Amino acid sequence: MHTPPPIDQSVLRQTFGVFPTGVTVMTTTGTAGAPVGLTVNSFNSVSLDPPLIVWSLSRRSGSLRAFQAAEHFAVNILAADQSPVSRRFASRVPDKFRGIPFQPGEHGSPLLDGCAAWIECMTWSMQPTGDHVLFIGRVESVRLGGRPPLLFVGGQYHDVGAVLG
Ligand SMILES: Cc1cc2nc3c(=O)[nH]c(=O)nc-3n(C[C@H](O)[C@H](O)[C@H](O)COP(=O)(O)O)c2cc1C
Repeated sequence: MHTPPPIDQSVLRQTFGVFPTGVTVMTTTGTAGAPVGLTVNSFNSVSLDPPLIVWSLSRRSGSLRAFQAAEHFAVNILAADQSPVSRRFASRVPDKFRGIPFQPGEHGSPLLDGCAAWIECMTWSMQPTGDHVLFIGRVESVRLGGRPPLLFVGGQYHDVGAVLG
């Protein structure tokens, strides 16, 4: 099989980063019952019928085992003023949920206060893919928060309100 020449990792990151995304915090409940979550921008919609979404989780993530063991998870779509929440959940602080208000969803996954929208999912499939695991979720419930979303592009956060004028 033909192997393409290696691509410089920093150029690859920079190139992927040109594509603007929203920002989510994926949450679930760990095996010991503690809340688990991390910042994710690989989220996307896949299918309307059945309703499916996708995201990818690094194999190096400390949250990997919890998401692999859980049958449910929640997608918290961050609002424009939640870049501090994104930074917190992208860090490896021991208790990411400290001082972050949330309510448990239908199956216990944390729903963070103040988001643009929330999507509760059942894990439909998990597929190891490169250095990530691809998660497909079947949407079980959705709720809109009525707030504009946070945007992420070029490694920076942006307020969609400012972009749309
Ligand atoms: C904007 C943004 C998007 C990110 N998207 C992803 C992603 O899609 N998948 C992933 O595994 N990590 C992603 N990360 C990195 C994780 O949030 C980060 O590695 C986090 O520390 C993982 O936490 P954990 O090791 O406790 O699971 C993203 C980080 C940022 C700032």
